[in-house]
Amino acid sequence: MFCCCIFLAVSLLHSLCHFHVSGYDRSCTEYPVFTPSALIVKYGDPANVTCVVCQKDCRGDVFGLEKAVGEVTENGTTMFWTVDRLTEWGIFVMCYYNNDAGDQCTSTLDLTLYQPPESVSISFVNHTGMMFENQQYTLQCSVQNVAPVQNLTVTFYRGNTALGHQQSNSEHKKPVNETFTLNITPSREDDGAQYWCEAKLELGPAGPQRPLVVTSEKLPAIVHCESERKKKNRFTFTCVIFMAVYVM
Ligand SMILES: *[C@@H]1O[C@H](CO)[C@@H](O)[C@H](O)[C@H]1NC(C)=O
Ligand SMILES: *[C@@H]1O[C@H](CO)[C@@H](O)[C@H](O)[C@H]1NC(C)=O
Ligand SMILES: *[C@@H]1O[C@H](CO)[C@@H](O)[C@H](O)[C@H]1NC(C)=O
Ligand SMILES: *[C@@H]1O[C@H](CO)[C@@H](O)[C@H](O)[C@H]1NC(C)=O
Ligand SMILES: *[C@@H]1O[C@H](CO)[C@@H](O)[C@H](O)[C@H]1NC(C)=O
Repeated sequence: MFCCCIFLAVSLLHSLCHFHVSGYDRSCTEYPVFTPSALIVKYGDPANVTCVVCQKDCRGDVFGLEKAVGEVTENGTTMFWTVDRLTEWGIFVMCYYNNDAGDQCTSTLDLTLYQPPESVSISFVNHTGMMFENQQYTLQCSVQNVAPVQNLTVTFYRGNTALGHQQSNSEHKKPVNETFTLNITPSREDDGAQYWCEAKLELGPAGPQRPLVVTSEKLPAIVHCESERKKKNRFTFTCVIFMAVYVM
């Protein structure tokens, strides 16, 4: 009995190992094929994919589709996976069969679940009230609840002019909040200008047709210059800049 248990445990471990690493097993002459080859799904949307387990090397009767959520229907060696609402982050869908050598040949579906930015806002870091010309201030663009953050691009604008594009350094499957910063040096020419930022989730040609773009509110700049009488009757202009939603 004891021996039997060990044997079972060892063979279970063996098959578990194969389960994970056998995707590139040398004895596999072909791998299961998913159609479409990649799925890009919005959080909460339905999804489906077909998997042909094998076309020539499928004499064995050990094959199937492993999934964390959803339903599978089978027709011979063709599997059809479907889910009504995809609301689980970081799930996998995997197709496999055991070949004559007893090795498991597997393919994992390239699945991206995305969430467009819920909101985008712009503000100054550690600054309120008036600003002075030729001094540096830091703008901050805050993007809430977006996934996957590695496909997010944030652009800062002054009017219609892009001041810079930024991307996240982190990778997450689940939605995150992320802030991006840009240093600016306002000048008197900024009078009437508007600063704002835009968050764009780019998922490539297989992604949604319409780009997923969310923009922040606009920060209008108002410049006040005053002449100041200095010694020896010389005048200088001092400009202060107001940039906040409340000055409107
Ligand atoms: C499978 O997904 C495609 C693409 O989203 C959709 O057009 C089709 O109606 C779905 N089929 C079923 C049976 O759910
Ligand atoms: C199963 O596949 C065969 C061959 O492709 C097809 O003729 C048959 O209609 C399919 N059956 C179902 C229930 O989809
Ligand atoms: C903002 O100010 C706080 C407190 O003075 C400081 O801890 C923080 O590092 C500052 N943030 C930036 C981005 O400078
Ligand atoms: C993102 O920010 C919102 C509002 O501040 C908060 O409710 C949410 O928990 C945050 N999400 C994460 C992943 O930190
Ligand atoms: C999304 O991000 C991943 C990881 O950084 C990258 O491999 C992929 O090419 C990105 N897709 C697009 C369309 O930019």
